[in-house]
Amino acid sequence: MKRKFTGIFLGTLVVLSVDVLTTEAESNVFTIAHRGDSYYAPEHTIAAFDLGLSRKSEVIELDLQMTKDKQIVAFHDPTLDRTTNGTGNVKDKTLKELKRLDAGSWFNEKYPKRANPAYVNQKIPTLDEVLKRYKGKARIFIEMKTPEKNKGMEEAVYKVLKRNGMLNASSYNNRSIVIESFSPQGLKKLQKLAPGLPMTYSVWNKEYKKLTDQELRNIRKYADMISIDYRETTQAKVNRLKRFGFTVMPYTVDKERDMKRMMKYGVHGIYSNNPQLLNSLR
Ligand code: G3P
Ligand code: CA
Repeated sequence: MKRKFTGIFLGTLVVLSVDVLTTEAESNVFTIAHRGDSYYAPEHTIAAFDLGLSRKSEVIELDLQMTKDKQIVAFHDPTLDRTTNGTGNVKDKTLKELKRLDAGSWFNEKYPKRANPAYVNQKIPTLDEVLKRYKGKARIFIEMKTPEKNKGMEEAVYKVLKRNGMLNASSYNNRSIVIESFSPQGLKKLQKLAPGLPMTYSVWNKEYKKLTDQELRNIRKYADMISIDYRETTQAKVNRLKRFGFTVMPYTVDKERDMKRMMKYGVHGIYSNNPQLLNSLR
């Protein structure tokens, strides 16, 4: 109310921009808890995924890396240094070695105001552990990180999904599991192993700018969902992608103003490190 009143005195331009900020969301957008609730808990830990779900997010998102002994783990960086007390490459360690690491204390040190003793000694989860814990409780979006550098990742992911009963029509129809990647080759390879498995093509701004209509049609043959950088998301871009039949999901949106802007554009889902904030706006 106060904002609208101010707008009247400041002129049309201001009224329009304020309108964007004050419009009620009334949106069916779904929340994708990016790396779990990674604002309030250490990313890619059970604590972060549990928290993401406890506040009504429909989806948890996680990234995948592969260990030296070809185990698939929920982890973002290729190296351990930022989010554990270990060092070096994930791909040079065995799962047993990774399981000795503390993947939570760094968060308490970096964000003392959001610290929680329960985060100390959180472990790096395997994909298998994540599926067992959340299957049937949340939709799970899993991003294969650089499969071109992790030889055999697609096959290893396929085996874990199969073992957990995720490769069936019911799971596909409900979008209970969705595979994401910035690598079209990785997506196509996995879809050959598991035809019908839903896929999201993730695209950087630089790549998006080069995408012709024909290329978008080609992508639609293996992916009907697309994740795009919110910073260069416009109404025109959302409309274009919708015309090609994509489910449109901007990443990674953490500010209220940007969340409202994305909802106004009519995107389908939003990736956020702060799903609690997004859920409070929907
Ligand atoms: O799918 C989009 C999003 O997950 C990409 O961001 O955090 O994996 O680098 P990130
Ligand atoms: Ca990701």
